[in-house]
Amino acid sequence: MKCRVCKRDAQISLKSYNLNLCSNCFLEFFRKRVYTTINEFKMCTPKDRILVAVSGGKDSLSLWHILSDLGYRTCGLHIILDIGEYSQRSYQQVIKFAQTKSLELRVVSVRDEFGKSIKELAKIAKRPPCRVCGMVKRYLMNREAEAFDCLATGHNLDDEASTLLGNLLNWQEGFLSRQAPVLEENYTLKRKIKPFAFISQEEITLYAELCGIDYLEERCPFSRRATSLIYKGVLNKIEEEMPATKLRFYKGFIKREYFKGGKREELSPCKRCGYLTVGEVCNFCKLKEKVLERKNLTEGGDDVRRDSYLKGNH
Ligand code: AMP
Ligand code: FES
Ligand code: ZN
Repeated sequence: MKCRVCKRDAQISLKSYNLNLCSNCFLEFFRKRVYTTINEFKMCTPKDRILVAVSGGKDSLSLWHILSDLGYRTCGLHIILDIGEYSQRSYQQVIKFAQTKSLELRVVSVRDEFGKSIKELAKIAKRPPCRVCGMVKRYLMNREAEAFDCLATGHNLDDEASTLLGNLLNWQEGFLSRQAPVLEENYTLKRKIKPFAFISQEEITLYAELCGIDYLEERCPFSRRATSLIYKGVLNKIEEEMPATKLRFYKGFIKREYFKGGKREELSPCKRCGYLTVGEVCNFCKLKEKVLERKNLTEGGDDVRRDSYLKGNH
């Protein structure tokens, strides 16, 4: 097997591109694709300050790695979710990466925000932990990105294709508008970019291994039953039989610009925090209120704190 580019021995076979490459040419191919995606979708420029949301897993650490290698001005953001040892290990992984590469890192913690863990919050909200966690993460990422030009996440092609499949199967047309590789800034919502939207999990794993990125392989303990894993599994089966299906599926969606035509939810500023939301009060503020209500109940009432919160002094 010879490398298509340099004709030396190839170690990597990318079925979805029908392409054999040696390690060096693969890295070059990978960098070019990320760079082209960033420019084609006008995600960011070298002048921009990018806040990169990093979980400690391979996608987000590889993203931070490549963005800084390509010369972009980055700062990492890690949210400590307080999901037992999994969160401790994630945090350690991110710190280690930032220190080795001498990169700036911001850290926020769910416990500092609410005084509770995700599991406790899920109980209070009477929602599955993943749902609560997703909402809290989105809110904190957006809030922390205030001083930056944009927020980058490590969502990859497998994430995008499986989300698209789920949205179509359930006809959640409103969600299609969120599936673009770039979500433009809108009042309090920062520009969000997904430079890996066209890059598969398999390619990112190769990149991480070849670059020696030390990442956490472990998955969040709450994600085991996540429906997204079912959709990913189905798409992988199809991909095995018909390589490039995932890419064709997601690219077809982008080309047809369905995300522009999809019914958009009406957004207005949250009455508590001012961030754009559906309805009067955003879910983050609603959750804070519920936590406070509980606290007041168990402590026999603390109206002063609640009043102060409701006036926005939080
Ligand atoms: P997930 O929703 O877990 O699939 O993660 C999607 C993206 O969100 C990741 O690629 C990261 O960019 C970001 N992310 C997930 N968890 C965290 C976290 N704890 N702290 C910061 N960013 C995160
Ligand atoms: Fe949030 Fe698993 S990462 S519940
Ligand atoms: Zn709010």
